[in-house]
Amino acid sequence: MDFRGAHILTVNQFQRDDVELVFQVADTMEPYAHRLRVTKALDGAILGNIFFEPSTRTRVSFGCAFNLLGGQVRETTGMESSSITKGESLYDTARVISGYSDVIVMRHPAPGSVAEFARASRVPVINGGDGANEHPSQALLDLYTIKKELQANGLTIDGMRIAMVGDLKHGRTVHSLSQLLKMYQKIHLRLISPQELRMPANIVSDLKAAGHEVTETDDMEAGLQENDTVYLTRIQEERFDSKLKADIYRGRFRLNQAIYTRHCQPNTVIMHPLPRDSRAEANELDADLDQHPNLAIFRQADNGVLIRMALFALILDISDKIKDSTKELGWYTGGRFGT
Ligand code: NCD
Repeated sequence: MDFRGAHILTVNQFQRDDVELVFQVADTMEPYAHRLRVTKALDGAILGNIFFEPSTRTRVSFGCAFNLLGGQVRETTGMESSSITKGESLYDTARVISGYSDVIVMRHPAPGSVAEFARASRVPVINGGDGANEHPSQALLDLYTIKKELQANGLTIDGMRIAMVGDLKHGRTVHSLSQLLKMYQKIHLRLISPQELRMPANIVSDLKAAGHEVTETDDMEAGLQENDTVYLTRIQEERFDSKLKADIYRGRFRLNQAIYTRHCQPNTVIMHPLPRDSRAEANELDADLDQHPNLAIFRQADNGVLIRMALFALILDISDKIKDSTKELGWYTGGRFGT
């Protein structure tokens, strides 16, 4: 695909080459994200960061990614502080905000809303999550993380074995990630969830039709065996009719040190898009694994900045120009990256 000026709405718009290009550009962003050099390639550019649903990582990392490229960020958060509560349509909001921005990232609770917004926008729009539908930048950063973590174990994405655990019905991160995996070879995908929270049937059948081995189970212990990666998710409480209905599933599937040692093969990479629900009744990923070398969740979150910088660089067509506007960094960093 031609990234220049493109909207990023779904992982289905990518070919494998496109994904690999994003990864290549993400690698070149390390010196800037890891505070070794400063670039001003996007000096003067404005990101409209519009989040109509709660977000920490996605919102802040898109904002940081834009700042790290030298651009400015204008943020709108929450429906309550937006004219949407006055009855304004997505069309009007898009026409207006796209006059103020060079690129927009948007999160909204309704599936399809970001695509609708993009149709009216005069600038590129990146889907930061549209309800339970998709979260394409998260899928890219997840796969980028998986690639790097598996590489360290001598493995590749092609042929890998991955388990996805939890609320696979409502989790947009697993919807996007599994669809992204379709374009790779011989993936063994184990889907572990309560019966009622299974992965949408069309995603499962598309993966099988593409030649991948997909098994679905509600038996966590059996499902955890023989994977290279385990990807845990939170029960998406906000997608249920009531908290009470979400409570039925909370805490059903947990990973902790004891379960990992007993059921996972050594070196299984542990992932989670975050936030993890750390309340005692949920605790899907226990803090007793926090020092585990295979716990990749914070490397995963750090990688989000690289991937989002790469998306901006490709969409705004500056990936070749970054080197022309760099300088040494002048402040103390403590060398917190690269370990
Ligand atoms: C996820 C999301 O918002 O879909 N978080 C994220 O973007 N990293 C996952 C979640 O909220 O459970």
